[in-house]
Amino acid sequence: MPGKNQTIISEFILLGLPIDPEQQNLFYALFLAMYLTTVLGNLTIIMLIRLDSHLHTPMYLFLSNLSFSDLCFSSVTVPKLLQNMQSQVPSIPYAGCLTQMYFFLFFGGLENFLLVVMAYDRFVAICFPLHYTTIMNPQRCLSLVALSWVLSTFQAMLHTLLMARLCFCADNVILHFFCDMSALLKLACSDTQVNELVIFVMGGLILVIPFLLIIVSYVRIVSSILKVPSIRGICKAFSTCGSHLSVVSLFYGTIIGLYLCPSSDNSTIKETVMAVMYTVVTPMLNPFIYSLRNRHMKGALERVFCKRKPLSFL
Ligand SMILES: *[C@@H]1O[C@H](CO)[C@@H](O)[C@H](O)[C@H]1NC(C)=O
Repeated sequence: MPGKNQTIISEFILLGLPIDPEQQNLFYALFLAMYLTTVLGNLTIIMLIRLDSHLHTPMYLFLSNLSFSDLCFSSVTVPKLLQNMQSQVPSIPYAGCLTQMYFFLFFGGLENFLLVVMAYDRFVAICFPLHYTTIMNPQRCLSLVALSWVLSTFQAMLHTLLMARLCFCADNVILHFFCDMSALLKLACSDTQVNELVIFVMGGLILVIPFLLIIVSYVRIVSSILKVPSIRGICKAFSTCGSHLSVVSLFYGTIIGLYLCPSSDNSTIKETVMAVMYTVVTPMLNPFIYSLRNRHMKGALERVFCKRKPLSFL
């Protein structure tokens, strides 16, 4: 390293969102509202699935896991963003930054793997309906969820350890609203080649393979429906898969848009908007996509909330 008396950086400044100071309060209210909606929506789904025994099927247990992961994913970045919008010096300590990065990668990865598990679940349900209960037995479900946890722990740990190895000395202003891996790499003063290689390879493995698995399972679902075409079968398949497909396209659409679109010099705003999409908007929309279109969820909502009503209203 060239410098002699370079200080080692102990905290970073998170520059936050590129918005005017006059609009700060408006955006604060907007993000607070979206975060509260996320928390409430996902907690409602988790509670409903827990309370209603009709929903104790693999599909809903996975959905409840997805809601949990959405809730945590959003809680890793949004509360800190809200706090920074109100403070004069939006700083974050070095250890806090790496911790945020770790949990961001962990819950992002978990969400990604759970979406694959859910696609597999739909694939078995539609292509092998008679064997569904034997294939998706409770042990198999639990091990699929456990595998998702192990894989995301592994990849988050790998990226975080590689980041901890780097030295930060000159610049400590992160041009982002959370400790994003690529934003941090731009500030490092040691060699980042290994990190970039690992991000490229792991990013490919962790996003492209799951995405392909989901596509394959949907292709098989569609072809199995077309083999025995009946209006009822088609409607049933699309009502069970439609919401999953919308969540999948929302999640992969923003991430693939971010990483595959060529970035120009002026891409910070685009990157920030995309990051807001997948940290704030997607976790907020998931519960609505699932519950508004789903009559089982609506039924559960009625059963759970109307159980005690008749007595108190008589
Ligand atoms: C996640 O899925 C597993 C396996 O199906 C289930 O036992 C567990 O209760 C779920 N966790 C949550 C938070 O819903």
